[in-house]
Amino acid sequence: MSDPTAHRVPLDPDVIRADFPLFERDFGGRPLAYLDSAATSLKPRAVLDALDDYNERYTANIHRGIYTTAEEATAAYEAARASVATFIGAGSPSEIVFVRNATEAINLVAHSWGRRHIHQADTIVLTELEHHSNLVPWQLLAQEKDADLEFVAIDDQGRLDQQSFEVLLRTRPRLVAFNHVSNALGTINPVREMTRMAHEAGALVLVDGAQGVPHGPVDVQALDVDFYVFSGHKTLGPTGSGALWARRELLDAMPPFMGGGEMIREVHLRHTTFNDVPWKFEAGTPDIAAAIGLGAAMGYLGALGMDRVRAHEQELAAYALELLPREVPGIRILGPRDPAERAGIVTFTLPGIHAHDVATLLDREAIAIRAGHHCTQPLHERLGESATGRASFNVYTTTDDIDRLAAGLRSVQRVFGAPDAPAATDGDRAVRYPVGSHG
Ligand SMILES: Cc1ncc(COP(=O)(O)O)c(C=O)c1O
Repeated sequence: MSDPTAHRVPLDPDVIRADFPLFERDFGGRPLAYLDSAATSLKPRAVLDALDDYNERYTANIHRGIYTTAEEATAAYEAARASVATFIGAGSPSEIVFVRNATEAINLVAHSWGRRHIHQADTIVLTELEHHSNLVPWQLLAQEKDADLEFVAIDDQGRLDQQSFEVLLRTRPRLVAFNHVSNALGTINPVREMTRMAHEAGALVLVDGAQGVPHGPVDVQALDVDFYVFSGHKTLGPTGSGALWARRELLDAMPPFMGGGEMIREVHLRHTTFNDVPWKFEAGTPDIAAAIGLGAAMGYLGALGMDRVRAHEQELAAYALELLPREVPGIRILGPRDPAERAGIVTFTLPGIHAHDVATLLDREAIAIRAGHHCTQPLHERLGESATGRASFNVYTTTDDIDRLAAGLRSVQRVFGAPDAPAATDGDRAVRYPVGSHG
C-alpha cells in the first residue's frame, strides 16, 4: 500500500537529477545549470525509454493494422491519452485531443469553434499577459469576423486587475481566453474565480495551461473551464506532443479542424462523414512516439506528485526572490512579490546591460537562461522593457543552480563595470561584449 504521508515529503532534486541524462554531460567541469524550463523542460529517462521502445520494438501506424505491433502501438497511444485525461482530471479520455503543442490546440479552437461562434461585433476578452500563441490566433479570427478584442489590464506586479476584468465582462464577450500561469512573469492567475465570473457573463473560457500543467495540480473539471490546452515538451514530455481538453459536448458540436485520414467515418467523392471525438480532430498520422512519450511523462510526474512539484518550485521562487536582490545590486525583478502568487519563473533586468548580453555571458559559465521578450511583446511594451532575462525552474532545479545564477549575474556586472559592482578582473574583461549589441 502506498504511504499516505508520502506527498508531504519535499521533492529532492538531487535524487531526481539522476533520472535526467542531460545532467551527466560535462560543461567545462560542471553540469549545466538549466534555468530555461519554461521554454522546454528536460526529459527523464522514463520518457526517453518510452520513445525508444516504440521506435525500436513496436513501430507501426495506429488504428488500422491488425497485426501484433500495430495493435501494441494503438494500445500504447490510447493508453497515453487515458494518462493525460487522468493527469488533468478530464471526465473521459475521449475529451483529450492530441496536438503538437499548445499553439496548435489554440488554433484548433479558434478555427473550429471560433469560426462558427464568433460573429461580427462579438467580443473576445484576452489579457495583457498573453503569450503570442494565445493572442495571434484570436487576432486572425477577429480580423476575419470583424470582431473585437479586449484586454484585461495588469497591475504593477503583473497580476490581472480583477476590476478591469469585471468592466470588460459587461460587454458580454463570447469567449474569455487567458493563461493559467504567465510564462513571462510567473503570475498564477485565479482561473476558477475568473471562470465563474466569465460564465455568469455568458462567455466560454479557454485556459492556456502551457505553464500550468507542468508546475502544479490541474483539475479541469474542478476549474470548470471549457477549453484547456498544454504542451507536452514543457511537461517533461517530447516535442511534438500536447493536448487540447474540452467538454465532450463542445467537441461533439465542433466541426473538424483539418481533413484527411483518421478523422473520417465514410468518404464519398462529394461528401464525408466524420469520426467520433477525439479522432475527428486528429487528421493524418499523428506523432505516435511523442504521444506515448507524453503518457510516460504523465506517469513520471504523477508518481512525484504535482502538489510536491508546486511546493518545490514555490520554494525555489522564494529563494531566488530573496537571494537575487541581496547578491545582485540594482537587479529589477518583475512579477508578483509574493512567492505564493507566482510559479518558478523569475524575470529580471540588470540596469544598463542588455538581457542578451547577460545570457551570452552566463552561457560561458554553463548557465542557461532565456533572454528577450519571451513571446510576449505586448506585455514587454506595457512593462517598458524591450527585453528581459528569465530563469525558470522545474523538478530538477536546485538552490545551487540559483546560487550559480546569482554569482554569474555578479560577474556579468563586473564585466560591464556596473557602478555599484567591484572593478572587473582581467579574466572578466576578456569576455566583454558591447552593451546593447543585440539591439
Ligand atoms: C504561456 C504559454 N502559452 C503558450 C506557449 C506556446 O507553447 P508551444 O510553443 O509549445 O505551442 C508557451 C510557450 O512558451 C507559453 O509559455
